[in-house]
Amino acid sequence: MSWHITPSTSRAGRIDHWRALDGSRLEMRPLPPLQPGDEERVRVWFNGLSPETRRNRFFGTISEFTDSAIHELLTIDPTRDYLLVVLRREGDQQQPIGGGRFVHDDDGESASFSLLLGDSWQGQGIGRRLLKALLREASRRGLHRMHGDVLTDNLPMRRLAHSLGFEAVESPADADADADADADVIHLVRNLRRTRFLPWRGARRNFMRKYSLS
Ligand SMILES: CC(C)(COP(=O)(O)OP(=O)(O)OC[C@H]1O[C@@H](n2cnc3c(N)ncnc32)[C@H](O)[C@@H]1OP(=O)(O)O)[C@@H](O)C(=O)NCCC(=O)NCCS
Repeated sequence: MSWHITPSTSRAGRIDHWRALDGSRLEMRPLPPLQPGDEERVRVWFNGLSPETRRNRFFGTISEFTDSAIHELLTIDPTRDYLLVVLRREGDQQQPIGGGRFVHDDDGESASFSLLLGDSWQGQGIGRRLLKALLREASRRGLHRMHGDVLTDNLPMRRLAHSLGFEAVESPADADADADADADVIHLVRNLRRTRFLPWRGARRNFMRKYSLS
């Protein structure tokens, strides 16, 4: 993939590097600007996902991800969406192996999250890393709540969310007695602690750097 590394100093633009269990070099970062051919590579990757993974993420049977569906997934409004991708370095290219996002709700106080990892990358702690980073960024943005819908039988996602402080609550759809279609979905919610913005910290760091005091 032609996505390239552009170091960033802002927290929202933070890039994390680590090695996977098989030694692969992985990188988690906000979605970089797309280059020609990237959407097609992502489409091929999505179409290689198992039926179970597709169902767990999209709650339905999706036989084929179209160009327009992928375009929509990768088109974000940075003021309302946050999309992290996990990339695997292969020579001078990077292949997508997963991602996570949240979308602000209209109330300006909460956001809904979703996570997706390729089948062979699940169960290695990458989902935990993604969800923690989403929570951090949502707090940094001053949001008060994160929530997400998960299939009742998706135990990995439920355990992961539970271990990071999410609780299952009755979703508005469940409150509707006729909402049979949503009977197998649970709604997970977690309150966020606002990360206090401390401008003096940045100013102190810049001062120390400028005068080589650190
Ligand atoms: C659900 C998903 C995001 C979890 O990410 P992951 O990287 O596989 O999970 P992690 O390795 O970070 O595991 C975190 C926790 O989840 C639980 N977990 C992970 N895999 C599990 C499995 N196969 N069985 C049971 N629990 C599991 C464990 O409690 C684990 O805790 P631990 O770190 O103490 O072992 C990932 O499996 C995935 O993308 N699934 C398909 C799409 C999906 O379900 N999306 C969620 C809907 S939004």
